[in-house]
Amino acid sequence: MIIAVDGPTASGKGTIAKALAAHFGLPHLDTGLLYRAVGRQVFLDGGDPDDAGDALAAVSFPDSLLGDPHLRNEETGGLASRVSIHPPVRQALYDRQRSFATQAGGAVLDGRDIGTVIAPEAQAKLFVTASVEARARRRFLEMRERGVEVTLAAIEDDLQRRDERDRNRDVAPLVPAPDAMVIDTSALGKEEAIAAAIHAVESAAAST
Ligand code: DC
Repeated sequence: MIIAVDGPTASGKGTIAKALAAHFGLPHLDTGLLYRAVGRQVFLDGGDPDDAGDALAAVSFPDSLLGDPHLRNEETGGLASRVSIHPPVRQALYDRQRSFATQAGGAVLDGRDIGTVIAPEAQAKLFVTASVEARARRRFLEMRERGVEVTLAAIEDDLQRRDERDRNRDVAPLVPAPDAMVIDTSALGKEEAIAAAIHAVESAAAST
């Protein structure tokens, strides 16, 4: 079974995807990490993330970069959003994601375009979302816990900017697949969101 989990930044899709993978015994790929690695590599190369050529050159990042803790920070998230606009970058990352999705036994992938582009045949498609306020609040608490000095307003601004870029790009924009089940996590706790996702996947699997 292929499970596609799409949604905006800080919606809870990563947490849900990991929990689904554990529950159904499937391997999991966080595809945002690939775009983050490209963004980070452009930075390390001294390149321009808005330049398609510089971004494409960074696609051949070393696998060891995927373990770099810098990939998780907000700056790299912003760079990832900028490099992900370029169609050749998306094309270059396609095969890697596609072969992960189609491995024997199935897989869980989370990202922006899994249900629409990478695995449109997925048996279960979830679109995990939440209000900007709820997502910003979560990100704020998470960052404060890590000791990062940041304001709620700055996080809200950044999320809004990133959402807009991800939604309005020409290729593979962030939109729910027509057959995706939408889970709004704004008012849900972590365990409630996970339970809702497991339930949605079970009902999708039962109807195929
Ligand atoms: O999920 P994330 O915040 O780690 O993703 C970082 C950026 O990568 C996001 O702003 C857009 C891009 N991305 C994408 O375009 N397609 C995906 N499947 C995953 C991420």
